[in-house]
Parts: sequence; structure tokens; C-alpha cells
Amino acid sequence: MEKKLKKFSKSRRLYQKAAAVIPGGVNSPVRAFKAVGGNPLFISRAKGSKIYDVDGNSYIDYVLSWGPMILGHTHPRVVKALKRAVENGTSYGAPTALEVELAELVLKAYPSMDKIRMVNSGTEATMSAIRAARGFTGRDKIIKFEGCYHGHADGLLVKAGSGAMTFGVPDSPGVPKSYAKNTITLPYNDVKSLKKALDAEGDSIACVIVEPVVGNIGCVLPKQGFLNTLRTLTRKHGIVLIFDEVMTGFRVAFGGAQAHYGIKPDMTCLGKVIGGGLPVGAYGGKKEIMSMISPEGPVYQAGTLSGNPLAMTAGIETLKELSKKGVYEKIEASSAMLEAGLVDAARRAGVATRFYRAGSMFCTYFTEKEVFDYTTAKTSDTAKFARFFSGMIQRGINLAPSQFEAGFMSLAHSKRDIETTIKAAYEALKEI
Ligand SMILES: Cc1ncc(COP(=O)(O)O)c(C=O)c1O
Repeated sequence: MEKKLKKFSKSRRLYQKAAAVIPGGVNSPVRAFKAVGGNPLFISRAKGSKIYDVDGNSYIDYVLSWGPMILGHTHPRVVKALKRAVENGTSYGAPTALEVELAELVLKAYPSMDKIRMVNSGTEATMSAIRAARGFTGRDKIIKFEGCYHGHADGLLVKAGSGAMTFGVPDSPGVPKSYAKNTITLPYNDVKSLKKALDAEGDSIACVIVEPVVGNIGCVLPKQGFLNTLRTLTRKHGIVLIFDEVMTGFRVAFGGAQAHYGIKPDMTCLGKVIGGGLPVGAYGGKKEIMSMISPEGPVYQAGTLSGNPLAMTAGIETLKELSKKGVYEKIEASSAMLEAGLVDAARRAGVATRFYRAGSMFCTYFTEKEVFDYTTAKTSDTAKFARFFSGMIQRGINLAPSQFEAGFMSLAHSKRDIETTIKAAYEALKEI
């Protein structure tokens, strides 16, 4: 495949203008290409498996808006329903039948949840779920795992120091130490440190929040027994187990990671796919916990645009399309084809990589070592990734601009798209 030297002059100019009026020129940090060098691409439109930048370049897209666009971009069914919905008004601040319909669709797919509340982002979902868990248990401390991202709420912007158990130190200026000190961070996939932490503090922990597959350090799979142990131990200590399925929900399976691994959490957070590309998050769980939420109970949580009719419409149409027979088999086959091709391309190019995948989310690490947590993910050679990323962009393949992000497959990716991607990957790998 000929490497075409793409021009990015319009993106570059827009980025300069953006940097004058928006911090770092972007409205979410990872978009800024800081980890790979260069300027972000400014996108003008998208269709199916492809996105197009303002310079007229096209790319086969494996970012998919960081996960939501599982049907592919501008799916005709979603677009048609949205056009109709716009005509009826874009927001009322009053309940609609659409909210009930989406809630019912989600609850049917996630039997661990009796009730669900719609919000506007994954961040809101996790923040609100933790508040509910604290209100329900009357406890303040929470446990999260190193490398798991649960949005940017204060108490969640905390990572571990070394050692089995570390009291939280904020990752970001602006997060009061007093918030962070209630967050305990443990290594993912480490049953021993989990047991130790719960033996010491189990009865003062409100909740454990976990990404059942960690998509925010690439794609890290739970080791056999890890999620089961988490379920058993949290139950023993009366701790609310929260699965953050903002990324994995309707992605690794229709019923999410909880269906895939057969675990019933007490609460679940969703986002991304359930909004079909519009801003949506949701949290839900057992009746007794969700009954704590205002106005049914005393735990306050609200939102002017929550349950927005356009967002509900995109979500409903997306989930209905996903509930069709054979859909997950199809995306599994595409993802498996990409996996086989990328693994083989790396072998042929003589580049040491590790590939991990859960359904249609995946990651190639530039390391020989097994990756099972934050520390092992960090063994990946990020300079190699940056060169690979550039080589792929030049060949019209859009990957997330960071080693520590998952890639996503959509139902719109064709066999030809995947063959093109594998060919590009082989050539890009040979260059690094
Ligand atoms: C697992 C997980 N939880 C929460 C969030 C936060 O969601 P949002 O960006 O919609 O606030 C993300 C975002 O990527 C996520 O991957």
C-alpha cells in the first residue's frame, strides 16, 4: 500500500485558532495528540466506518467517538429517528415516554438492575452511583483500581502509589486532599491486596467501583476468578459492588461484561453506546439502593437535560438495532478477523506486541510482557506506539492517539476495511 503523504494544513490552522479560545485547543484532553505528537485532526463528517477531516482526508475509524458508535457513524435508522424527534422539540424538562422506553430496554438486558436513572455523561453516572452507595451504606470510603478511569469527579481522580494499599493522593490540582483521602486504590487483578484491604477496612468501605474490562489502560482483561472474588468479598462486607460499564456496556456483549463473565453487581454505570452518539449516561441497580435516590429517597441527584428526548431517541434506536439476531456474532467475527490479522502482521514485521480483546474492544501493546494491570501496561514502548500511530494515520487508519486507550470495532466495518487495516498495520509496523 502506497503511503500517501496527507496534508493537514486546515486542521493545523483550526488547531491554532482553537488553542486561543479553548484550553489546549480541545474540549477533552486525549483528543490533543499529546501522547503521539502532532496536531489533532479536525473532523468535518463521518459515515459508516469512516471519518473525514477538514482537509478532505478519509480514515477507517477505530475510535468511534471513544466507543459509542457501535453501529457505525450516521446509521440511517438513528438519523431518521433523530430528524423526526427534532421536529417535536429538543428538550421539555418534563418526563417523556422515551425515557421509560429506554429504561425498560436497558433493564431487560441487565437483570442486575431493578431501576435506572438517566444522566448526561459517564462521569455523572459514576459520581451519582457512588453517592447512592454512600447514602445506602452510611460509609464514606471507596475502593477503585489503579488504571481504571471512572470519569473526572473529584474523588475518582486518584491513583495508587506503590504498595498493596494506598490512601488516595489527588492526581490533579484542584482536588482537595480531604476528598481523595476517602479513595483507596488497589492494583487491578490482584486478589491478595484486595483481601488484605478488605480484612483491614472492609466494614468502612461504601463501594468498590471497577471497570470489569479495563479500557482506560488499553484493554486489560480480568484474570480468572478476579471478578468472582470481588463479588464474594464485597457481599461478605456489605459493600456495594459497582460495575462501571460505561465502556463495556452493550459493547463486550449485549448484556455487558456482567453477562459475559456471569457476575451480578449491585450497581451498574452505563454511557457511550446507550446514547448512540448523543450525550447520555445512566446508573442503576438493586431496588433498595435506587430507592435512596431523590425524589424517592434522600440522596440528591438531578439534571436539567437528563433524559433528553434526542438522546433517548438515539439510544433507543441503537439498542433496538443491537438486539437484532446475529449482530454480536457479526461484530465478534470482524473483531476476530482484525485480531488475527494484526497479530500476524506484527509477527511478520518482527515487532514484539501483545494483543488483547474483549468482544469488539481491543488493544495492541508494544511489549513482550503479559499485560494484566497498570504496571504491566506501562511496559509498552510508547515511542513505538507513536510511530505506529503516525504510520496508520498516513495510511488512512484512525486509531486512538494514545497507547493506553482501547480500539473499537463497529458493525459498519467491512471485510475490505479490515483487510486494508491489516495491510496498513504490516507496513506501519515494518517502519517503526
Ligand atoms: C469506564 C469509563 N467510565 C466513565 C467514563 C466517563 O465518561 P464520560 O466521558 O462520558 O464522562 C469513561 C470515559 O471514557 C469510561 O471509559
